[in-house]
Amino acid sequence: MYVCMCHAVTEAQVKEQIDGGAETPRQIAKGCKAGTDCGSCVRRIQALLGEHGARPCPTARLAARLGLAEPQTGLIEPLAA
Ligand code: FES
Repeated sequence: MYVCMCHAVTEAQVKEQIDGGAETPRQIAKGCKAGTDCGSCVRRIQALLGEHGARPCPTARLAARLGLAEPQTGLIEPLAA
């Protein structure tokens, strides 16, 4: 699946960058150019970084520094059909 359409970068290529030590979208961009054009893929790149244990995005770091609660999943029940 493509993550960055501007540079035809796949999710696998981004994961390779993460496995190679990239911890930020800027480091991903340096390795494969993903996120260096329109920027619409940067949030997905940040999510991939988070999923693979890299440093959280600046907003998450600020929330942690301020002692705000971590987002919790599974608290909202789906609407009944
Ligand atoms: S989709 Fe990645 S820079 Fe445009």
